Amino acid sequence: MDKKDDSMEKVVALCKRRGFIFQGSEIYGGLANTWDFGPYGVELKNNIKRSWWKHFIQEREDMVGLDSSILMHPKVWEATGHVASFTDPLIDCKKCHERFRGDKLIEENMGIEAAAGKSLKEISEIIKKNKLKCPKCGSTDFTEAREFNMMFKTNQGVIENETSMVYLRPETAQGIFVNFRNISAIMRKKLPFGVGQIGKAFRNEITPGNFIFRTREFEQMEIEYFIKEEGWEKLFKEWEDLCKEWFEKLGIDKKNMRYREHDPKELAFYSKKTVDIEYKFPFGWGELMGIAYRTDYDLNRHIKFSNQDLTYFDQETNERFVPHVIEPSFGMDRTVLTVLVNAYAEDSLGGEARIFMKFDPKIAPVKAAIFPLIKKEGLPEIGRKIWNDLKSEFTVEYDESGSIGKRYRRQDEIGTPFCVTVDFDTLKDNTVTIRERDSGEQKRVKIEELKGILTEKMR
Ligand code: GAP
Repeated sequence: MDKKDDSMEKVVALCKRRGFIFQGSEIYGGLANTWDFGPYGVELKNNIKRSWWKHFIQEREDMVGLDSSILMHPKVWEATGHVASFTDPLIDCKKCHERFRGDKLIEENMGIEAAAGKSLKEISEIIKKNKLKCPKCGSTDFTEAREFNMMFKTNQGVIENETSMVYLRPETAQGIFVNFRNISAIMRKKLPFGVGQIGKAFRNEITPGNFIFRTREFEQMEIEYFIKEEGWEKLFKEWEDLCKEWFEKLGIDKKNMRYREHDPKELAFYSKKTVDIEYKFPFGWGELMGIAYRTDYDLNRHIKFSNQDLTYFDQETNERFVPHVIEPSFGMDRTVLTVLVNAYAEDSLGGEARIFMKFDPKIAPVKAAIFPLIKKEGLPEIGRKIWNDLKSEFTVEYDESGSIGKRYRRQDEIGTPFCVTVDFDTLKDNTVTIRERDSGEQKRVKIEELKGILTEKMR
């Protein structure tokens, strides 16, 4: 049941074969680094989103939700510093003309410390001095590093000019800051309180890759947790624990997760402290999410640029001030990738090699599959009736084609935790067998008890 080095390729192949993730625009030859979530991918994604919303919003008194627009006033991005500073250092290989992130090239060859916080000039010098090679053609001849802004631009309305120009948001976070006044006034929340949202973000990444790990269009699940400045360290630590706890709830193996605090030189321009939760992907440790102490930077900048009052009045102390913020920011697509990689398993069952996805039942795309043993003698009718009875509670499939063995294999590969077989004994005693995905164990149960048993197992 061990994961091999080629597990990434195997996961990618399974995603395509079983309808989790397809290449974007495939029939036109594909659009590089775009991916479409297929029928099982979207179920998995929705289950993860529901779990996140429940854990961080629904079950907490101090949290509320939001769904803000992707297109925002262009001044938002001037205020936040994204127009000036949301850039990556771009270098070109002079031989093969491939483009790279200069800091990543250094990081991959010399470690994260060597790349952190370096200016464009320093990046160019390090690459030259250490004769770093182009990962594509091996040349050491690069252009000087230059700033490349990662925000996508588009035009709003029918006239294309500078005044109609808008950006696709590079993070969902700013939708929360610009709604801070509305939410704090209407929801009558006392500090500390948080606002969470799930939505698309866009970044013109220089080097997207590793399947859905780094793409140009992706989803984030972000929280801005508004606090008083004093005591931020304690709340920061609480959020570190809460976030890890949620990943564990999804069934992610603890030993493949770790915290990594950013070196001061590596910190984003808005952050005083950032801790990433990293996951050990088949291609190495990678950032799954980040928790940042953004201080009062964003609200202050919006106060300055919008000329609006975004302060908070504390009725207990009679003080008015700008709240500080702790920001847990999750990548939706990276969470899906982590769940997929974490679930991929191979073993042998009944003397036959098999592949199965050991998703936690709570997030499995299909919870149960109903199989009549054969397509006659009334078995399909009973199977359909069971499916009808369960479908409002769970995502359930009905399958009557092919051998039972083949049907099991298919459900194993999409990670269905329970298969229910209707056979000749069902006609006699109204019982069916439940077969568990991971152990392959089978148990006979009464049809009328099925819903209760499955509900219990899903908890
Ligand atoms: N609001 C803070 C923020 O956006 P970030 O570290 O740039 O911080 C947060 O992004 C999370 O979004 C990352 O930890 C990652 O999971 C996800 N993310 C960022 N860029 C991504 C990309 N190009 N493709 C997929 N996910 C990405």
